[in-house]
Amino acid sequence: MFETLTAPAPDKIFQLTGQFAADPRPEKVDLLVGLYRNADGVTPVMAAVKEAERRILDTQTTKSYLGFAGDAGFINGMRDLILGDAVPEARVAGCATVGGTSAVRQILELVRTLSPDAQIWVSDPSWPIHAGMTDHLGLARRGYRYLDRDSNGVDRDGMMKDLRVARAGDVIVLHACCHNPTGADLTLADWDEVAGICLETGAIPLVDMAYQGFGTGLDEDAAGTRLVARKVPTLFLAASCSKNFGLYRDRAGVALIATTEGAPRDAAQGQLTAMNRNSFSFPPDHGARAVDMILHDDGLRQMWDGELTEMRETMARNRRSLAAALRAQTGSDRFGFLAAHQGMFSLIPSTPDQVRALREDHAVYLVGDGRMNVAGLSPGSIPHVARAMAQVLA
Ligand code: LMR
Repeated sequence: MFETLTAPAPDKIFQLTGQFAADPRPEKVDLLVGLYRNADGVTPVMAAVKEAERRILDTQTTKSYLGFAGDAGFINGMRDLILGDAVPEARVAGCATVGGTSAVRQILELVRTLSPDAQIWVSDPSWPIHAGMTDHLGLARRGYRYLDRDSNGVDRDGMMKDLRVARAGDVIVLHACCHNPTGADLTLADWDEVAGICLETGAIPLVDMAYQGFGTGLDEDAAGTRLVARKVPTLFLAASCSKNFGLYRDRAGVALIATTEGAPRDAAQGQLTAMNRNSFSFPPDHGARAVDMILHDDGLRQMWDGELTEMRETMARNRRSLAAALRAQTGSDRFGFLAAHQGMFSLIPSTPDQVRALREDHAVYLVGDGRMNVAGLSPGSIPHVARAMAQVLA
């Protein structure tokens, strides 16, 4: 039966994790998958999450089913965390999903139902699943320019020019902050321009919010999303709790749609809910419940905020230290962009051979396109990584 099929290509991001685990070299450095690591190389369960889990364990009396949409406290808590007061509650539909990934999936499926001819605009480059999922669903995909490979910043002229030819009903996938894989983020003026393009063309923004709090701060990282939300009639939003709550394997995420109050909002809610039922019936509850508890308890929220700040500052410190070490190694500021980028990732200008040399000759593991997870660096590994990069990327 499977004779006509071939196995798909291995996942670009997870492909090398097995090879890393089997690598016997003690100096090896894992800068692959987007996992936060502390200075000891550990991806910790956040203390606020542990405490919320303890309370769940103590107080939960049943694991009976919830509604198909998931827990309202979680959904509303995430809505408020992301959108603040940008949009009246009555305009927003929402469903808990299986991590942020399935929020993107549910929304794209809904787009296919609504307008099968819609084009999905994906930044070049982007998180590979944006393109993978669009293709898998049989939707038409268009790329828009994003990275200026000379400055390692955003190619805003190219981006806006490409998006101006979007059609009504097309969907523009945007990274809320901490762009994956480039690390180069839009300014508020850019977000404003994107909102204007959506209004002019009738395209709908789909904001993927996977790293709120990893860039500048919880509100700052949501500012672009909120600006767009205030202006456009309809906004799709996919959010993940994997990184900022460290809930990776527990799969907590939310799909939100801000649209016209009344019947359109109710229809969107009904569609999202039915999509859950037809996909997995009920979204996972454990991680979402912990998030709900943290967002609605002053003490837990403060604890979480403190831990999130520490993670953000550690990543920013890693960026500055690596940029400084590279400046010392190369005598130039060509890697200065590392300190200016935001969040977990930066795309290191490199060829596939150079990425291979970093891995094979120096045990420094990057994703094949040169994406580096700066949260995988530590004060102990930075001198080694800087020496390797200076040598290989000379
Ligand atoms: C990443 O980009 O490394 C993470 O978001 C993990 C994933 O699912 O790809």
